[in-house]
Amino acid sequence: MTHSYSERYPGGRHPGWPVVLEGLRVPAGVVGLRPVRLRDGATWSAIRIRDHRHLAPWEPTMPGAWAQRHATSEWPSRWLQLRSAGRRGTALPFAVTLDGELVGHVMVGNIVREPLLSAYVGYWVDARVSGGGVITAAVAQVVDHCFGPVGLHRLEATVRPENTPSLRVLAKLGFREEGLFRRYLDVDGGWRDHYCFALTAEEVGPGGLAGRLVAAGRAARG
Ligand code: ACO
Repeated sequence: MTHSYSERYPGGRHPGWPVVLEGLRVPAGVVGLRPVRLRDGATWSAIRIRDHRHLAPWEPTMPGAWAQRHATSEWPSRWLQLRSAGRRGTALPFAVTLDGELVGHVMVGNIVREPLLSAYVGYWVDARVSGGGVITAAVAQVVDHCFGPVGLHRLEATVRPENTPSLRVLAKLGFREEGLFRRYLDVDGGWRDHYCFALTAEEVGPGGLAGRLVAAGRAARG
């Protein structure tokens, strides 16, 4: 199998997007992924405002008050930016659903095609369902999609050393620690160290990460 973009996608089109992924069941329900939608605004805003303290310690510092930045009225312009990045092929902005209800996001960003075929992955979930395996099941499906139809070769995730749940997600998925980036990202009001984790396509077996989770009894086919 080749990972050369020009060989695999001679027309230069952005493969693997838009897409709906809905293959894994965890005890709380079926974990699916789909592109973010304009009508996600009210739910997105409600979760993000309710979960301010759950989310803010791990997200890039941005100007403006949290409640204002996450008002329903802010969503249409964010959604337009995300949709346009998806269309350009620089990002895959996924909504995570649990039995069809929006509960979080998985973002594949900074997609660089040849020669790297690389991107980063980031995620968050509604605190009311956290700890139930939702994001692990979601990221597994996204990784498989990225190394399959999207044609990427490497995925990276950077995490603060204090973020135990996120470190656990990456460990369960088999991401490899590559090192510590000092003062890497301005998060929650300061420059924070981040561990860099990565995975390349060769490290994932034929059943994919979803297959690994199923074999480990952490999820079932939806
Ligand atoms: N100490 C130890 N382990 C913990 C703790 C804790 N305080 N809290 C949770 N865990 C464990 C859970 O038990 C679970 O492990 P297990 O399956 O072995 O029991 C694991 O951490 C979490 O796994 P999931 O349930 O699959 O993950 P979840 O759906 O809860 O999502 C996430 C994890 C996204 C990190 C969620 O906690 C969240 O939204 N946090 C706030 C935002 C955030 O941190 N995003 C990630 C930033 S880094 C990045 O994007 C690469």
